[in-house]
Amino acid sequence: MLVNKKYVKRHAKGFVYLHWINAVCFFMLFLTALPLYADSCKGLYDIFGAKTLQNAHRFFAVLFVLNPVIGLITAREGIWRMFSEVLKFNSKDITFLVKFPLELIGKHPAGIPKQGFYNGGERMNIALQLATWGVLVGSGALLWFGEGIIDNSIRAWMIPLHSLCAGIGFAGSIGHIYLALIANPDSVHGMQDGTVKVDYANAHHGEWMDDLVKEGKIKQQELKEALKG
Ligand code: HEM
Repeated sequence: MLVNKKYVKRHAKGFVYLHWINAVCFFMLFLTALPLYADSCKGLYDIFGAKTLQNAHRFFAVLFVLNPVIGLITAREGIWRMFSEVLKFNSKDITFLVKFPLELIGKHPAGIPKQGFYNGGERMNIALQLATWGVLVGSGALLWFGEGIIDNSIRAWMIPLHSLCAGIGFAGSIGHIYLALIANPDSVHGMQDGTVKVDYANAHHGEWMDDLVKEGKIKQQELKEALKG
C-alpha cells in the first residue's frame, strides 16, 4: 500500500534510528581519536582535554556496540535484510557496478539492470561497514581490556588494525554520504520517515517494486497512477 499515493514504505522507524545512532557514534569515535593521528587536530586536546576525549571515545564505543544489539529487538527485519542481501551478490550487480560510475557525474547510463532492495554498491557498503564494525569492536575491546589477558606483542598489533579499519570505514562513509546527499538526494527521505518517492524507488530499485506488486503489497493501478502524477 502506498503512503499519500506517492510514497512507498522502505525502512522501519527502528532501522532509521539504528542508522542515525550508528552514524553519530562512528563520527564521534573518529573525531575523538583524531588528535592521536593529526597534529593539526591537537587543538581538540586544548579545548576538551585529553582525558575527556578518551572518555568520550569509550562512551561512544559502548553505544556503537549496544546500538545493533538493541537493534536485534527494535530493527530485526532491517538488520536481517542487510545480512541476507549482502550474500546475494550476483552477475546483475557486476553489470550495475560497471555502468554505475557514470551516475556519479550526473549521467544516466543505458542498460543498468533493475535493482532489488539494495543495489550492488549498497551491498558493498553494507559488507564494508559490517566488516569494519566487527574488526573495530574486536580490536578496540582487546586494546581496552586485553592487558594481562593477551600477549602484549599481539595487543600491539591491534593499534594499526584499529586505525586501518577506522580509515577504511571513514573513506567508505564519505562515499556513501556523497551518494546519498548529492547523487541521490531522494533516498534520504527513506532515512527520515522511512518512505521514498515511488518514482525514485521505481528508477533505482525496479526489481524491489516488481516484487511488491507481485506480493500484492502495491496494486499495479496505484503504481501507474503514482508514476503518472
Ligand atoms: C550524513 C550522513 C549519512 C547519510 C545522509 C546517510 C544516508 C543513508 C541513506 C539515505 C540510506 C538508505 C539507502 C536506501 O534506502 O537505499 C542509508 C543506508 C545505510 N547507511 Fe547511511 N548515511 C549517513 C551516514 C552513514 C554512516 C556514517 C554509516 C556507517 C558508518 C552509514 C551506513 C549505512 C549502511 C550500512 C546503510 C545500508 C546500505 C546502504 O544504503 O548503503 N551511513 N544511509
